[in-house]
Amino acid sequence: MSTSTDGLAHHGDAELAAGLLDFAVNVRRAEPPPWLRTVLAASLDRLASYPDDHDARGAVAERHDRTIAEVLLTAGAAEAFVLLAQALRPRHAVVVHPQFTEPEAALRAAGHEVERLVLDVADGFRLDPARVPVDADLVVIGNPTNPTSVLHPAATLRALARPGRTLVIDEAFMDAVPGEPESLAAERDLTGLVVIRSLTKTWALAGLRIGYALGDPGVLDQLRRVQPLWAVSTPALAAARACSAPTAVLEAARAASSAVLHRDYLLAALERLPAVTIAGMPRAPFVLIHLAGADRIRLALRTRGVAVRRGDTFPGLGRDWLRVAVRPPELTDHLITALSDVLTADAAPPATRFHPSQPTIEPT
Ligand SMILES: Cc1ncc(COP(=O)(O)O)c(C=O)c1O
Repeated sequence: MSTSTDGLAHHGDAELAAGLLDFAVNVRRAEPPPWLRTVLAASLDRLASYPDDHDARGAVAERHDRTIAEVLLTAGAAEAFVLLAQALRPRHAVVVHPQFTEPEAALRAAGHEVERLVLDVADGFRLDPARVPVDADLVVIGNPTNPTSVLHPAATLRALARPGRTLVIDEAFMDAVPGEPESLAAERDLTGLVVIRSLTKTWALAGLRIGYALGDPGVLDQLRRVQPLWAVSTPALAAARACSAPTAVLEAARAASSAVLHRDYLLAALERLPAVTIAGMPRAPFVLIHLAGADRIRLALRTRGVAVRRGDTFPGLGRDWLRVAVRPPELTDHLITALSDVLTADAAPPATRFHPSQPTIEPT
């Protein structure tokens, strides 16, 4: 198994270019909803003051049945991984792959060794908790996992907690799973648990940068000590507060239910393409697929106006994998048409450059 770190800095946004239909980045909408834009616009009046995170933390705490001391707001979920890497001194860090690469990248950048626990496609990328080394004092796992779209049972994750271990669960996409059935966001009694959440995907706020960590106040204090001062801006705090309100949570839940229908549509269309194998049992708003020559096919899709996410930069996957975002059916139809065309062209025998029945022209 390769332990190359070359691809860790690659993310779906690098696959985008003007004019391409975006199936590469897992942000749900093209822009924040109008009510949220109004909230953001109103926050501009307060830009002269330094950010005050009290109300936003309170709203997030209430949303997850936690106390305010159990909430740390961050500049996107990505910042939380950097803070963890800088604040903690793990002797044996284990990252469960394939998953979002930033946790490993942040740990390595902070000088920590990282052991990769690579899940197997034959197991549907599901985790057997017994595979996690008992002496691991930091374990990072995504739920649902990007890019495999696997939703690990809460019981599996609970089995990973133990004294002396920080258990980090990246729930960046959990609000896209209807009912959030396997979430540990509100779990207060699990030793060393830190849950990371993002607001950038569901609410189209990737450019604003807002997320948070939930967990033991002692661990969060350690993170806070290494966090840059005023890391989360006033508009980002306004978004955190607004997106944690019950009406917003309900809106996210409805969107999650629609996404399930859209994913079913995508899966049914992909299943009609014999070259494509769908990995595991997708539960997130993206699907991981296996198809021979995916690296070539991805480039051919670009020439047909469609961007998908390459799979080979995720530890544990190779050149025959692609990740595809769930989109409404009318957009999915474009993807499927382009993919069918590419697969047909790919299967055709290479164009002959010389045909025996053609007269040869001798050079003069
Ligand atoms: C699984 C996962 N976690 C965290 C993040 C980072 O999210 P944010 O935009 O909140 O930093 C991403 C971004 O793609 C992701 O895929």
